[in-house]
Amino acid sequence: MADFAVLVSGNGSNFQAIAENLAGTRHNLKCMICDRKDAYAFQRAKNLGIKTYYVSYFKREREDAEKDICAIREKEGVQLVVLAGFMRLLTPYFVDRYKNRILNIHPALLPKYPGTHGIAESYASRDAELGVTIHYVDYGMDSGPIITQKSFKRDFTESLEEIEKKIHNIEHSCYPETILSVLDSIEKKQ
Ligand code: GAR
Repeated sequence: MADFAVLVSGNGSNFQAIAENLAGTRHNLKCMICDRKDAYAFQRAKNLGIKTYYVSYFKREREDAEKDICAIREKEGVQLVVLAGFMRLLTPYFVDRYKNRILNIHPALLPKYPGTHGIAESYASRDAELGVTIHYVDYGMDSGPIITQKSFKRDFTESLEEIEKKIHNIEHSCYPETILSVLDSIEKKQ
C-alpha cells in the first residue's frame, strides 16, 4: 500500500480519471491539492468524496506556497505527488525533497512543445505523430526523465477539438496505469 496526492490547477479531468481508476487498488489517494480557489476540480473532488486543500500562491514566494504543500504531504503521509494539470513550476526547494517522487503528465511528445499550449502547438505542427508524455519532475518546465510516452498517427483531417479529445482520452487511461506501477514499486521498496 502506498499513499499519494494529486496537485491540480483547473478542470481536473485527469484527477478524476486517476481517482476512479485507482479506487479499487491497494493504494490511497489521500487528497487533492489545488492552487486555484475556483477550480472545477473542487467540484469533482466533492463528487468523488476526496479530501481537498487549497494552497494560495497569491502574492507569495513560490517556496512559501510549497512549504504549505510539504506540510500537507507530511500530515497526509503522502509518498508520491502526482501533478495533473498543475500549472506552476516547482522550485528546487520542493523538487529536492521529493526526488523521483513527483510525476507529471504533458499532452505532447516531449521534449517537443513543453509549457501550457502543448496540444495547440503539436496540432499546428506538421508532425505525423502526436501523443502524451509522463515523466518525473525536475527543476525545468516539463523536462524531467521520461517514464513513458503514448503516441498516435494523425491523418491531418482531424479538427483541433478532435485531437484534444483523443489526447485527453489517452491521458485518462495512460496516467492511472503509470501511477499504479510507480505506486507498486514504491510499495515493494517499503
Ligand atoms: C492536461 O492535458 C495535462 O496534460 C496538461 O493540462 C491538462 C489538464 O487537464 N498539462 C500540461 O500542459 C503541463 N504542462 P485536466 O485539468 O482536465 O486534467
